[in-house]
Amino acid sequence: MAYEVNAHLKPSNLKGLSENQIAQHWKLYEGYVAQSNALKAELEALRKEGKGATPLYADRRRRFGFEYNGMVLHEYYFGNLKAGVAEPGDASPLRKALSEQFGSFEAWKDDCVKCGATRGIGWAVLYLDPATGWLTNHFIQLHEDGNVAGFAPILVLDVFEHAYMVDYPATGRPDYMKAFFENVNWAAVEKRFAEASAGKIPARF
Ligand SMILES: [Fe+2]
Repeated sequence: MAYEVNAHLKPSNLKGLSENQIAQHWKLYEGYVAQSNALKAELEALRKEGKGATPLYADRRRRFGFEYNGMVLHEYYFGNLKAGVAEPGDASPLRKALSEQFGSFEAWKDDCVKCGATRGIGWAVLYLDPATGWLTNHFIQLHEDGNVAGFAPILVLDVFEHAYMVDYPATGRPDYMKAFFENVNWAAVEKRFAEASAGKIPARF
């Protein structure tokens, strides 16, 4: 058994994010899948050789969190991109929950963009805490520092420079985030919210 590249998640024809930008970014996602598989195999082999207490094993075990989260977050990211999907309307449970908790849907979005503008490389993620129903935006540094145990990812925004530097300059993160929000697959995001609200981990693919 191995992790696989989920080709059906690859978006196309986005507004403000070129095919080349997505293709370059997709290659990095493929790398995380390959590295997750390689590390899993290496860890199993080291255990079989009785090397489970070695510094090498400890290093690989830590690195697995980086590679695996890199794979997972990219799957949620590409899976929540699609051109031409309208923002959730007033009847949307997600819009209602965000409006209740942030004051308005726009106030939540503003907070999410500010989260994505955090200095450093990483991710802005809208999470649901299934235990309380609370929705919060979090900045994840790299792929693994800042993930909250038990929280369910609802909307995932990659703010590494590699996510936009084919199309935008190094200072172009604000314009990239504007483009991102013009391409959110709200139907997929709503589905994740429904699944997480029902106590399930939202499906990645
Ligand atoms: Fe990325």
